[in-house]
Amino acid sequence: MKPDRVTLVEVGPRDGLQNEAAPVGAAEKIELVRRLQDAGCREIEVTSFVSPKWVPQMADAAQVMAGIERRAGVRYSVLTPNLKGLEAALATRPDEVVVFGAASEAFSRRNINCSIAESLERFAPVVEAAHAAGVKVRGAVSCALGCPYQGEVTPDEVERVVVGLKAIGVDHVGIADTIGVGTPLAAQRALERALKHYPLAEVSGHFHDTYGQALANILACLDLGVHVFDTSIAGLGGCPYAKGATGNVATEDVVYLLHGLGIDTGLDLDRLVDAGAYISGVVGRPTASRAARALLAR
Ligand code: HMG
Ligand code: MG
Repeated sequence: MKPDRVTLVEVGPRDGLQNEAAPVGAAEKIELVRRLQDAGCREIEVTSFVSPKWVPQMADAAQVMAGIERRAGVRYSVLTPNLKGLEAALATRPDEVVVFGAASEAFSRRNINCSIAESLERFAPVVEAAHAAGVKVRGAVSCALGCPYQGEVTPDEVERVVVGLKAIGVDHVGIADTIGVGTPLAAQRALERALKHYPLAEVSGHFHDTYGQALANILACLDLGVHVFDTSIAGLGGCPYAKGATGNVATEDVVYLLHGLGIDTGLDLDRLVDAGAYISGVVGRPTASRAARALLAR
């Protein structure tokens, strides 16, 4: 049965902007977060504390975290691949941190420069230190539905990483289709493996929309009862280490879908469209959200 209420984790400021060729300034990122909050976003992935040599677009992480206006009831998360990232992140008071692993060895090496086993060893002290600071930890499982280097990825490979993340105390797992190749049954098969080890509220879906399947994948996961999804304003996004992958599913499109199904999100679609128009102007591209385009043309 589908849930009555869905939480969308807005990843636009992070996933959305980590792959832009022309860097977006900290002031624009801060303004985007403000507009997202005005639209009702209560979970915002703000930035990444990663190596600036690997992802220069996120080099202003501390500045952005210091500049955002914190609002009561809003949870702010950031990516932290290692202890160095965690230490820098904790100084900026996030509510949640995200370690990011992969279901494919090849992608793990390309994205974080280590094997899957090494990544789990590296994440273990990050989880411990985050918990000691009272901060929740999410774990992303990239390439859960396919890998740009390895090709097919099986549910067994997904489950293996989920089990590894659980063993080191990660609180929540996000099953990610990094390159947007997945289709609904494959999405269900992957999330079902996560649900064997984590409660419903602690499993989420993160779908890039390269093949236009993301909304269908979300609908299929709603049928499993999953009620947390990552989405990105204006459909921005991509991973610098997953060439050719397009953005995440657009927040506006998912909200249109969910409200049409009578599912509450707490989000204001018109204000989201405004936020999407703002950031699309900043990056100099039309929005990738079909719902936003339709609403703007009214
Ligand atoms: P490495 O080169 O193996 O790391 O990279 P290292 O420990 O050897 O350090 C190399 C240099 O980076 C050193 O500086 C470190 O101090 C520095 P140097 O001595 O050369 O001047 N460094 C750092 N600086 C700042 N913050 C840090 C940090 N760590 C090391 N945290 C590393 C390993 C993990 C750091 C690197 O591979 C990296 O930063 N990768 C991040 C890649 C990334 O951000 N990808 C995108 C996010 S994941 C994603 O988009 C997927 C997701 O959306 C889900 C999905 O769609 O699949 C979540
Ligand atoms: Mg992503």
